This record gives sequence, structure tokens and C-alpha cells, in this order.
Amino acid sequence: MKSVRLAALALLVPIFLNSPLPAASKKLVVGFSQIGAESAWRTAETESIVSEAKKRGADLKMSDAQQKQENQIKALRSFVAQRVDAIILAPVVETGWQPVLREVKRANIPVVLVDRGINVSDQSLYATLIASDFVQEGRMAADWLARKLNGKGNIVELQGTTGAAPAIDRKKGFEQGIARHPGLKIIKSQSGDFTRSKGKEVMEAFLKAEGKNIQAVYAHNDDMALGAIQAIEEAGFKPGTDIIVVSIDGVKDAFNAMVAGKLNCSVECNPLLGPAAFDAVEAIRAGKSLPKKTIVKDQLFDQGNAKDVIDSRKY
Ligand code: AHR
Repeated sequence: MKSVRLAALALLVPIFLNSPLPAASKKLVVGFSQIGAESAWRTAETESIVSEAKKRGADLKMSDAQQKQENQIKALRSFVAQRVDAIILAPVVETGWQPVLREVKRANIPVVLVDRGINVSDQSLYATLIASDFVQEGRMAADWLARKLNGKGNIVELQGTTGAAPAIDRKKGFEQGIARHPGLKIIKSQSGDFTRSKGKEVMEAFLKAEGKNIQAVYAHNDDMALGAIQAIEEAGFKPGTDIIVVSIDGVKDAFNAMVAGKLNCSVECNPLLGPAAFDAVEAIRAGKSLPKKTIVKDQLFDQGNAKDVIDSRKY
């Protein structure tokens, strides 16, 4: 009798694991594991998710990992212990998620990835990813710079956080873009960790080593570009003129720097992912199927159009 009951239970388990979340009658509880506050972009993303949770009456349990994957893993385990209805995860790096995501899956909690992708062999460990196409962003920056430099010049590169999807893909896309122009060369490349202070520090070292040999800076985000601009000015050069500065994100300070003539171009990467993330959570709750990836559309801005749009920018 006991073995019959166990067999019946075994049959029920997979059905339970695949079933939608409990009906939407009780307050939705969502765990949000955020990377940190390394950039203005990141702060805008956090605000978007927090305000969307409020708008929808959801209880958001947010955890700031201060750039550390181990803190994000701890946060995910704590969300499992608290039995949240869903998890929104902005993963700091691409690798190392499989074991903890297996625990989350065993607890039947769906995971919505926002802004950065992960490398897992088992794709069922997350429900959906909402992000920009970082490779395309890198290509757009490269094409713009190639036109600006007429296909010739030495570039220094400020990479984002090592191992992070946007750092890997923006490097790849940029390299693909400049490969069509044999006169363009990346002469130095180092991580500035997506922060203004590190961007400045690394740019100071580049300037010390290469000085007048540098025609352009490609920064994987605006914050590092803004730090580099400071370093360029302190070294006695004119950013935007003596050294062309190109970056990614499209945050308000980048627009101010473009209007001031110090930053030449910024490829937008939209951080306002709160509405899409909560739409995904609610769709899962309602048992609807979702695309594995939703790509957020981005545009390019430069000194030619920055003035016209600066007042309408939302972040
Ligand atoms: O993942 C998106 C990137 O992370 C943004 O470009 C950067 O500013 C942030 O820290």
C-alpha cells in the first residue's frame, strides 16, 4: 500500500514542478538580486524595478550583491528559504550559476533574468531573459568610430567587469566592427569594472604609457568614459577633440558630456526593465509561455543629436 502511495506521489511531482505559480489572489512576493550600484545605469535599473513592484502592489525583497557573485548566490538561497513566488536576477557574471539555479528550480521558483545573460547547459534553469544585444552595441560603437576616424587610429579600450556578459559581448562586437578597418588598432585594453573611479585610474595609466599615441577611447559604459574624460583633461588633452571618446549606456551625464563636447558618442542600453520584468513574472504566474529571450531595442546618440533629445531622456 505504502509503495503504491509513493508511486502516485512520484507521478505528481513533475506535474507540480511544471505547474504555474499559485493563483494571483495573494500578494505577489518577488526576490530581486541586483549586482550593486556601480553605475548610473545600474541605479536606473534598480529604480525601474522597485517602482514597478510598487505600482503592481508586489512585495519586493531586494538584495544588493555589491558586485560579488557569492552574495548573489546567498541571496538566491535566502529567497528560496523565504518561498518567494518568483526571482528577478541581474547576474554579475556569465558562469557559475548552475548549482544554485538547480536549487531554485527544485523549489519550483521561476527565474527571470534581466539585463545580463548566463552560461548554463540546462536552459530550463531560467524562464526568460530580457536584455539588450551587447554584441550589436559594440558593433554600433565601432562603426561610428570608424567613420569618425576615417578608418585609421589607435584606440584604448576600457572593459567592463571581467566575466560579465556586457564586457564579453561589447568587446566582441567592437572587435568585429573594427576588423573591417585594418588602420584601426586597439593598443591597450583593461577592465575598469564599469565604475567611474576605475575608468579614470585605468585611463591615467593608458595616458602615461601611450600619451599622444591615443586617438580614441572605447569604454564599455558611460561611467568609465566619464572617468576617462577627467583623466584626459588632467593630462592636458581635450576630450572629444584631441581624443575621441565613445561609450555605451546613454545615461543623463553622458548626454551632458556630449552637449559639452567632451563625449563624442554613446550607444543607448535601456535600463528601464521593471515593466517587462514584471510582465514576465505575471505571465509565468498565469501559466503563459514566454520567449526565451526578449531583446531590448537601443539607439545611438552623438554630439549631432544629443542636444535635441537630452530633455526627454528618462535616466
Ligand atoms: O549590464 C549592463 C551594464 O552594467 C551597463 O552598461 C553598465 O553601466 C552596468 O554596470
